Amino acid sequence: MTALPLPVADADLTPLNTFGLPARARRLLVLTSADQLRALAASPEWALAPRLVLGGGSNLIFTGDFAGTVLKVEVGGRRLMAEDEDVWIVEAGAGENWHDFVRWTLAQGWPGLENLSLIPGTVGAAPIQNIGAYGLEMAERFESLDAVELATGAARVFTAADCAFGYRDSVFKRNPGRWLVTAVRFRLPRRWAPVMRYAELARELEAQGISSPTPLQLSDAVIAIRRRKLPDPALIGNAGSFFKNPVVDVATHARLAAAHPGMPSYPQADGSVKLAAGWLIEQAGWKGRDLGPVGCFERQALVLVNRGGASGADVRRIAAAIQAEVLARFGVGIEPEPVFV
Ligand code: EPU
Repeated sequence: MTALPLPVADADLTPLNTFGLPARARRLLVLTSADQLRALAASPEWALAPRLVLGGGSNLIFTGDFAGTVLKVEVGGRRLMAEDEDVWIVEAGAGENWHDFVRWTLAQGWPGLENLSLIPGTVGAAPIQNIGAYGLEMAERFESLDAVELATGAARVFTAADCAFGYRDSVFKRNPGRWLVTAVRFRLPRRWAPVMRYAELARELEAQGISSPTPLQLSDAVIAIRRRKLPDPALIGNAGSFFKNPVVDVATHARLAAAHPGMPSYPQADGSVKLAAGWLIEQAGWKGRDLGPVGCFERQALVLVNRGGASGADVRRIAAAIQAEVLARFGVGIEPEPVFV
């Protein structure tokens, strides 16, 4: 039987969430292998305690202390699992840093993840909310993943269909705490073509005089855009996009587009229309404004930032104020992207 690591009692979670919110956990357990996880699930005291799984802590808002066990996943490792004439299948442990993994695949000559460069967090967190940026969603490169059911310790492989990916959504997001992801496999295409459907990315490359970019050049362009627009969590606490872009029906879109000719909108395959929450928030006058110690970021209204000393309650307060203002102005509800704990 695999030995379990010793838990840390009364652990400080402040450095473990990118928003820098103060919180403590009754117990913190750092797991470095899937075997440890199965051993943990089999232990009797485990069954009773409330628990929370932590990856990179980049999509979490702590609103208080956690009276249970926090599991920090640090399962490492990355390798080429298989290849054929179409794809490389590459696997990474859930605890690997996402961006380091992306850059490593590019250095090996395996393209496909470059549009997702510089997204904070871990490999294991990527499928939970199906991370996406600059014209690509992780689901488009996903092969399968390994997870452990926390209640039983049973190991299970999830295919893409099992994961039921949606926009910033998956079966894991809809069943919080049920499974813990231990490793993820990606399908990286040998016949690679750059994904440049995102206008801002195309403009960035054009400005650099690059017409047919290499995967590495695309990655560098994404990094340049992100550095310009998004705050670095190492310098200023934040959780990336704080709100999801709302999806509305055709009638709502038509009403808003008539009143606001410049409003960005993205028609979806199912006939609905996605709106830009950042635009709605900016129009509602919130961009660059603070409420207490939390601010609406001056360069990207979709991001809330910790100006120093913020608590989860402060985050809730400004989020509710922004939601109310957008609803009053546009009749559209916007929902937070991070998970509140
Ligand atoms: N906009 C404004 N004001 C703002 C921000 C945006 O008017 O303050 C407008 C922009 O001009 C643009 C539109 O809104 O016309 C969309 O903005 P942008 O291209 O910056 O992308 P986004 O919709 O704000 C999404 C993702 C980001 C991802 C970018 C790039 C969500 C919730 N956010 O942001 O993801 O990096 O596209 O693909 O889908 C994240 O999820 O944490 C994240 C950063």
